[in-house]
Amino acid sequence: MPPLFVVGWSSDHRALRILDQRHLPGAEVMRDLVTLDEVIDAIRTLAVRGAPAIGVAAAIGLVVALEQESDGRGDRARALLVPYAERLVASRPTAVNLSWAVGRLVAMAAAVGDDALLAAVRAGAEAIRADDVARCEAIGRFGLTIVPDGARVLTHCNAGALATAGIGTALAPVHLAHREGRRVHVYADETRPLRQGARLTAWELQRAGIPVTVLPDGAAASLLRSGAVDLVIVGADRITANGDVANKVGTYGVALAAHAHGIPFYVAAPWSTIDAATPTGAGIEIEHRHAAELGDLPAGARVWNPAFDVTPRALVSGYLTDRGFVTPPFFGVAGA
Ligand code: MRU
Repeated sequence: MPPLFVVGWSSDHRALRILDQRHLPGAEVMRDLVTLDEVIDAIRTLAVRGAPAIGVAAAIGLVVALEQESDGRGDRARALLVPYAERLVASRPTAVNLSWAVGRLVAMAAAVGDDALLAAVRAGAEAIRADDVARCEAIGRFGLTIVPDGARVLTHCNAGALATAGIGTALAPVHLAHREGRRVHVYADETRPLRQGARLTAWELQRAGIPVTVLPDGAAASLLRSGAVDLVIVGADRITANGDVANKVGTYGVALAAHAHGIPFYVAAPWSTIDAATPTGAGIEIEHRHAAELGDLPAGARVWNPAFDVTPRALVSGYLTDRGFVTPPFFGVAGA
């Protein structure tokens, strides 16, 4: 199977190219985006999603939008840079990789003159993309120790190749273990309401030839009690300095159930997901999404639809990063 193309440059390098995940698992639709509005819409509607992939999409999207709108003039691009960056950062607030990636480009632009600005941010966006590929591989390699032959892994949402420019975070050790010939079975929570586990994780794993069983979110606790799962690995949208973890809503419940049944619960993320400037999970802005995502409801029914939740540090057995297994607190670490 060829590697998945999820997010990167178009063939002529003038557009952001994404695999539009709204069409999965039914169809593989590639889209090329050039305007800031198109990029923001793709991020908001989860055409491109998953914290690292959002960061890469925002970086490349910012560059191509600046190039187009400035007619290649550095002074014009500089005037547009911060307003564009602010609009991108506001498009999905929880995943720190978005503001991290955009912030890096803004800092790079500040370090050069107008003549060099567009070349600098283009090189910066490509570095962020390539860096994500490398970080995923590193996470996978370090994570091989927790995925022995025969491992049965539960995951929530999609923190695989579809969520990054590389082989994923939570699923990186699974992909590498499978490549090495180890037998691995993945249980994928359906992940209400947008069904990233059922639509995306199951598709990605099947495509790679990795056995996968999809379960409704509400069945995860019973599955963990049944003894069918050896370990849980999830991704993260933001890890605060004390080790609290924001991830797809439902992760906290899985962590509680894993804890109750003595099953290790690992969080896998690139270093760029660590937000050392936010002390605890209480400081994380949680995105709330539209009521329509919950489907048919009686007219007038009130809805609470947070896209993410926060799992406290006490429930996390280990933090798997591109620098190996690390232990909080992360105060004072550079978020790169
Ligand atoms: O709303 P989504 O699909 O972007 O949420 C994705 C997740 O919660 C992932 O687990 C997280 O971003 C980590 S992706 C490597």
